[in-house]
Amino acid sequence: MDAQELRTAYVEFFKERGHAQIGSASLVPENDPTVLFTTAGMHPLVPYLLGEKHPMGKRLVNFQKCVRTGDIDEVGDPTHLTFFEMLGNWSLGDYFKEESIEYSRDFLVKGLGLSLDDIAVTVFKGEGGIPRDTETAAIWERMGIPKERIFYYGMEDNWWGPAGLTGPCGPDTEIFYDDGRPACGEGCGPACRCGKYVEIWNNVFMEYYKDEKGDFSPLKQRNVDTGMGLERVLGILQGVGTVYETTLFTGIISKIEEISGREYAGDDVRAFRIIADHVRAATFMLADGVFPARMGAGYIVRRLIRRASRYMSGLGYEENFMGAVADVVIDEYGDAYPELRRNAKAVHRGLDEEEERFRKTLRKGLRRFDALAEEAVGDTLDGEQVFRLFDTFGFPVELTAELARERGKRVDMADFENRFREHQDKSRAGADQTFKGGLADSGEETTKLHTATHLLHAALRELIDPGITQKGSNITAERLRFDFNFDRKITREELDGIEEYVNNIIAKDLPVECREMTLDEATDFGAIGVFGDKYGEVVKVYCIGEYSKELCGGPHVSRTSEIGTFKITKEESSAAGVRRIRAVVGK
Ligand code: ALA
Repeated sequence: MDAQELRTAYVEFFKERGHAQIGSASLVPENDPTVLFTTAGMHPLVPYLLGEKHPMGKRLVNFQKCVRTGDIDEVGDPTHLTFFEMLGNWSLGDYFKEESIEYSRDFLVKGLGLSLDDIAVTVFKGEGGIPRDTETAAIWERMGIPKERIFYYGMEDNWWGPAGLTGPCGPDTEIFYDDGRPACGEGCGPACRCGKYVEIWNNVFMEYYKDEKGDFSPLKQRNVDTGMGLERVLGILQGVGTVYETTLFTGIISKIEEISGREYAGDDVRAFRIIADHVRAATFMLADGVFPARMGAGYIVRRLIRRASRYMSGLGYEENFMGAVADVVIDEYGDAYPELRRNAKAVHRGLDEEEERFRKTLRKGLRRFDALAEEAVGDTLDGEQVFRLFDTFGFPVELTAELARERGKRVDMADFENRFREHQDKSRAGADQTFKGGLADSGEETTKLHTATHLLHAALRELIDPGITQKGSNITAERLRFDFNFDRKITREELDGIEEYVNNIIAKDLPVECREMTLDEATDFGAIGVFGDKYGEVVKVYCIGEYSKELCGGPHVSRTSEIGTFKITKEESSAAGVRRIRAVVGK
């Protein structure tokens, strides 16, 4: 079975069972400021999962293009992709667990010819006040999966959604293909990362709504949201070890071989995979109108193109090549996603221009980097030099960090941030100024940092702990410092998540509104912040979309995009039970 046959088999199977086919939505989500890209098939269906009537009915099916950007640096190993396709079927308040599981079993066995003996499933064990899903386990048993291959896990593994900040979500049951190798040890199961189990399908029983406070309430209707990973299933059906060995990548990889004159083998495998993944993803993004830029989704497409360009250069090829690879992508996918053909010109232009821009300086930059790595005292690269690579040669700092890692070195990020800030303050009047022009004054900087502090506060409460409150705040023209109650270190992953959260809100260009009300009203309104105690006092509450309502004297920027980008430079302990975060904003 090839990719198109798999898409068709899936859609036809569900059509025969009363589902209407809907199209694949754009990679750019229409109504969700908290994510840069469509990450799942359910994303465009949120209003309907919440109860709005869908014009096509209560049973839907499609294949949806998706992008997940969390793992860009992992791409190149056998399993990670930035772009992927999700096959999905939905019940909008129609059938529920029994039919959903029966359909899944039947599609796996009758539709794809897999054996139930190779399937294991996971079920929600109950957590956070939501009961154990014994009903689903019992259904699986009736469907022929023995108890030993039904595993129970908690929220971490068997709960899905919401896709953004708030929205529909619920316990899920995940279906795994067991590749037959022996268990890696005691406790090996579907949640284990040893490779024995590959997740192929997720059936989510969406009957809850998660609100801004993190509380769950029942939805008006009980929905089913499923998602099957097309590339992974294809890998299994085609009997190949990785998604990159499926027929979806055959043409793309041979094109890269042809252009580079190198073979997809040995030490070059990783570079080939990175190039293939990144060009494929960039092609789809450009076709949906996402062009290289300094922030937001545009920054992701820029990073992908520049990283692919560097790896191609590592294969010894220094000319523009992505347009030719994109043509193979457009050919391979053009029937399923006609927008690729419609927008082929824009795709070419976007790739060509960005390759050009980057390659112009890459060669010199790499030479400079090599010299830098040679000269480095110890294992740390000097922040000023790293900054010059960024400034003069357009090296995204992530790229320099990656190059450094390959040579067993590291980048002094804090030093880099300092240089970046200094430069930024000096070059406010520069021609490439993205936002409001004019010379920077510290007033402008501190205003941005003020608003950024509110977003950081909101992010901590949303992502880390709703009980977090401010214990202190100090803002200079250079940076913000925010102290809050919390009793352990915030991990790097968590900090990354916070940054992404804040930057997503910034990218949405939301208005920052000031409302005046009494303290009592502010409490009822759900505002957070340091409350005074004068009864009846009128206070200012600054609101940023749905994300932040905070008592504050201001001043604040009028729209979030004025902040530029938000970056955390340090996380440390400030006192017992109090953590401190320093962060900067940039262009
Ligand atoms: N929305 C669910 C997922 O992405 C099906 O796994």
